[in-house]
Amino acid sequence: MIFHDQTGEGKRDSTTLPHIHVGISKTELVRSQDGGNAMTERKVWFVTGAARGMGLDFAKAVLAAGDSLVASGRNTDRLSMALEPCSNLLTVKLDVTHPADAEAAVNAAVDRFGRIDVLINNAANFYAGYFEELTPEQMDLQLTTSLVGPMIVTRAVLPVMRRQRSGHIIAISSSAGLSGFEFGTAYAASKFGLEGFMESLRAEVAPFGIHTTIVNPGFFRTELLTEESTNYATGRSANTPSAAICWSPTGSR
Ligand SMILES: NC(=O)c1ccc[n+]([C@@H]2O[C@H](COP(=O)([O-])OP(=O)(O)OC[C@H]3O[C@@H](n4cnc5c(N)ncnc54)[C@H](OP(=O)(O)O)[C@@H]3O)[C@@H](O)[C@H]2O)c1
Repeated sequence: MIFHDQTGEGKRDSTTLPHIHVGISKTELVRSQDGGNAMTERKVWFVTGAARGMGLDFAKAVLAAGDSLVASGRNTDRLSMALEPCSNLLTVKLDVTHPADAEAAVNAAVDRFGRIDVLINNAANFYAGYFEELTPEQMDLQLTTSLVGPMIVTRAVLPVMRRQRSGHIIAISSSAGLSGFEFGTAYAASKFGLEGFMESLRAEVAPFGIHTTIVNPGFFRTELLTEESTNYATGRSANTPSAAICWSPTGSR
């Protein structure tokens, strides 16, 4: 896993970084952007895209550690099937592209647990294909989900964290947030944007005791490359071969 150092010292690999333990058992995720450790006691976590993939792994780890979890997703039935009901679990409907969903989910979280300590902006999708073959609508959908989505959820959560004078916002970016790749114009653009958003946000929220972290995973097997999460370019350019036929996932994304 690659870590994006945001203290102005450039990019370094994980072995050289001080890590925070974010309270999930066996999950030494990432470095805090300010090197601090905001995690000292039982926390309330808010995870987007918690019904499957890495979001579900986060959710299970939070519950296994005995912390409280707001598990959010577009489909609450799917969330309920994925996670056993328990007293420290709240499942809420949240499409990250819908500000009204985000407001309602945050209100429900505060009603139930009184606070939100950690937000993990995990939900994303993948629009794969040559730039010329990706339609403007597909590019829009990529950016709306993977870049604007985390902004929408963060906007809803921040007032809660500011009132608390504490909190931690974690963005699941990608190695594609550090370097682009063929077939990845849409996805990498969204992740580079996410990095810029988080780097800038850091300075704005630090005075309120709110920490920020960017995670840059390499390629790993989830459901990201299933048809539920990956959409291939549908446009055709006269000069480029069909994207869906030519591409297979061989490198870090
Ligand atoms: N897997 C990798 O190799 C890899 C590498 C680097 C970074 N990442 C990043 O890791 C994160 C998790 O991805 P994953 O690999 O776990 O993918 P995944 O298995 O495909 O899961 C994606 C999750 O995002 C949710 N989602 C998609 N659009 C949403 C929306 N509009 N509103 C709310 N939820 C939405 C999905 O919910 P539904 O069930 O409702 O579809 C699903 O829970 C993403 O940010 C991804 O970019 C993954």
